[in-house]
Amino acid sequence: MDATHLIDSFRVDGKVAVVVGAGSGIGRASALALAGAGATVVCADLAGDAAEETAALIGAAGGAVHAATVDIADRLAIDSLAATVVEEHGGLHVWVNTGATMVEGPFLDLAEDDLDRIISVNLKGTVFGCQAAGRIMATQATGGSIINFSSGAADTVSANISAYALCKAAVVQITKNLAFEIGKKKVRVNAVAPGFVLTGMTSRYFVRPDGSIDEEMRDAVVGPMKKFTPLRDIADPEDIATSVLFLASDASAFITGQVLRPNGGVAMS
Ligand SMILES: NC(=O)c1ccc[n+]([C@@H]2O[C@H](COP(=O)([O-])OP(=O)(O)OC[C@H]3O[C@@H](n4cnc5c(N)ncnc54)[C@H](O)[C@@H]3O)[C@@H](O)[C@H]2O)c1
Repeated sequence: MDATHLIDSFRVDGKVAVVVGAGSGIGRASALALAGAGATVVCADLAGDAAEETAALIGAAGGAVHAATVDIADRLAIDSLAATVVEEHGGLHVWVNTGATMVEGPFLDLAEDDLDRIISVNLKGTVFGCQAAGRIMATQATGGSIINFSSGAADTVSANISAYALCKAAVVQITKNLAFEIGKKKVRVNAVAPGFVLTGMTSRYFVRPDGSIDEEMRDAVVGPMKKFTPLRDIADPEDIATSVLFLASDASAFITGQVLRPNGGVAMS
């Protein structure tokens, strides 16, 4: 490999990528980043309209794109999505599991229904995505790259998000176990563990039901986040999409089973 041209290895031309959770936040930015770097991107989300919106943004920028409505907690639907992608696009090289939900409340009051719901989406959904993509990638000479989403919540402890945190800790172990088993098939499996990112998931604290922003509440949430982060800032979705692009590309060809932490230094491992 010619080291003077390594910048080219960050491109993903010719790769077919699926981003689950592409309708919002980090998933949308990741889909746009992958398309901008040359991939054909399938934007999948439970919110089909939102996935279509992301696909339209990619299409308007001249990228190759396709949208799909899918519930990551539905194993058959995920298997079917992966099979359809291969039929329609001739392969599957990148699978990004960003789709997730949140359950909040004190540990001692955690209802079984809520626990089941978040495990179905954030934990089992990640397993199903890994299985559907991994089975296909393992049969391809080129292998592939699976990118899961953990969180700073798996590295640090915050009040009232224990159900979310336990799923995100499990995602780290899912990533390592699969990476170990499937590495010989040239399939890489890594996780991204962001710090605080302004998205639909986090703006719930300060966006009112009518869509307007409660500025005082926003400052009360974002201020301490910045203060306790070594880089004194929070992230935009694009700050995380760069990690997805790196892990999807051949620039990370020798990296598997790892957790990449774009978190401003709030947790260091
Ligand atoms: N925002 C943060 O501060 C932050 C920090 C650490 C980790 N994360 C993780 O990053 C990932 C992306 O989060 P985000 O902040 O962009 O959230 P977001 O709420 O903006 O986007 C999540 C997307 O997932 C989709 N989704 C939810 N349930 C789904 C399901 N069952 N099937 C398919 N799609 C589903 C939603 O419709 C939405 O489009 C998540 O895994 C999240 O846990 C976020």
